[in-house]
Amino acid sequence: MPDTVRINALGRYEGHEVGIQGWLYGKRSGGKILFLQVRDGSGSCQCVVEAARHDAFAAAQRLANESSLLLGGSVRRDERAAGGFEILVNHIEVIQAADDYPISRKSHGIDFLMSKRHLWLRSRRPGAVLRIRHTLVKAVRDFFDERGFVLVDTPIITTGAGEDIQSLFPVEYFDRRAFLSQTGQLHVESACMAFGRVYCFGPTFRAERSKTRRHLAEFWMVEPEIAFAELDDIIELAEEFVRCLVQAVLSRHEDDLRLLDRDIAALQNAVASPFARITYGEAVERLRSEETRRRLEARFQRDRRRLQSMIDDLADVEKRMTAAVKPWQKEKLKSDLRELREKIHDLERDVADQPAHLASAQSFEWGGDLGGSDETILCEQFETPVFVTDYPARVKAFYMKKHPHDPRLVRNMDLLAPEGYGEIIGGSQREDDLEALTNAMREKGLDPRDYDWYLDLRRYGSVPHGGFGLGIERALSWICGLKHVRETIPFPRTMSRLEP
Ligand code: 4AD
Ligand code: MG
Repeated sequence: MPDTVRINALGRYEGHEVGIQGWLYGKRSGGKILFLQVRDGSGSCQCVVEAARHDAFAAAQRLANESSLLLGGSVRRDERAAGGFEILVNHIEVIQAADDYPISRKSHGIDFLMSKRHLWLRSRRPGAVLRIRHTLVKAVRDFFDERGFVLVDTPIITTGAGEDIQSLFPVEYFDRRAFLSQTGQLHVESACMAFGRVYCFGPTFRAERSKTRRHLAEFWMVEPEIAFAELDDIIELAEEFVRCLVQAVLSRHEDDLRLLDRDIAALQNAVASPFARITYGEAVERLRSEETRRRLEARFQRDRRRLQSMIDDLADVEKRMTAAVKPWQKEKLKSDLRELREKIHDLERDVADQPAHLASAQSFEWGGDLGGSDETILCEQFETPVFVTDYPARVKAFYMKKHPHDPRLVRNMDLLAPEGYGEIIGGSQREDDLEALTNAMREKGLDPRDYDWYLDLRRYGSVPHGGFGLGIERALSWICGLKHVRETIPFPRTMSRLEP
């Protein structure tokens, strides 16, 4: 067997004999020829087996999808092939013959695919998302590393709430009760006073009883923190950061984004101009405005028309299905039907929720927290991400700096991604005054004695400082144009899913 190479490097071996190690991804017969689609993780290529190669042909004929194999052959250019090259096979060695791989080319429902996530990772769509995730994570690290931030790993087992008490996951810690970390912020603030510019990046846990498309029980958050900084500095950093992340993905993953049907122009547009900025007060006015009502009603009408035309398509496919004779035609139509039904189901749910979302936006009372549907309504009004600043203190965490001119407000920002995605970043300037901070804790029902180590930071050289947290999965959902965060993490943990 010749030396093995990875499929994405085949171009370097044109005219040579190579070996490929991979998995069978699909097979097609052309009479005296078999076309094997083989993937090896770096890419996939067509491998041509001629009947004249008796042993290889016999082995290939028996092979089922996802069998693992080693094959040898010569590389030749073929403009029609996905990677530009194919292999004319001399020899096949089956490593393990798989049978009845549960995921086929036809479309499956999302619940089935999620329950087979350990296998589904091999398919094109998860492959594209997770490759983009890899780039996003690397871009996060590059961004901070290039700007002199020190990476500080914060603990996962903690003693108290960093955000809110309701969403803590308890763990048994020897004879004590502890919790999984909701945020690395309090610890990263300590490191900030040591290094000036720091970030932590790790798994984060929230026991929120929300079954939305935006919530995971376990997600990854990156949290930078900078000393001698006020809210404007933090906003500036967040904007540059998000722009760099999107550009890193755009420059390396056009093919993956296309495979996901992402509207690439919308993504380019989103980071082409300065991000929008409004205050919470302005957000409330917008939600209640006549203009918002008009916009939404126009959108509802568009969605209803789209729904109707999908329902018409469905009837059409059903008709063709009864007329179809060939089994492969029926199979294809069945899969189209399922896809269409799933899309209709999603849109029907959206359309059904729309009147309630509009009503709740129009009657929004100053002082409340912006809900998911309010964020969607707001961010759909901008092409770029939008910063919403200066929320009422009572809906935000205890550590946020009070507004200098209005003690009802805090100096915070949420960054909402466009196209309806909503919050991807939450951050703030921190309360750096010892007395103001302990008062804020008491107002939230927290006991300052439980945070004594944290209060030391205000006793010994306190300075204005702040930072933010970006949820990797929320950012990725937006960048990839996905409807649900569950596809952005290899093994999602939600209220209803703990396996695989
Ligand atoms: O707004 P949050 O709760 O902010 C913090 O935790 C701060 N301590 C961050 C900081 O200032 N250092 O969460 C930050 C981000 C959200 O904007 C969102 O992107 C993500 O974390 N996030 C979630 N992602 C998925 N599932 C959940 N349940 C999430 N909760 C928050
Ligand atoms: Mg938040």
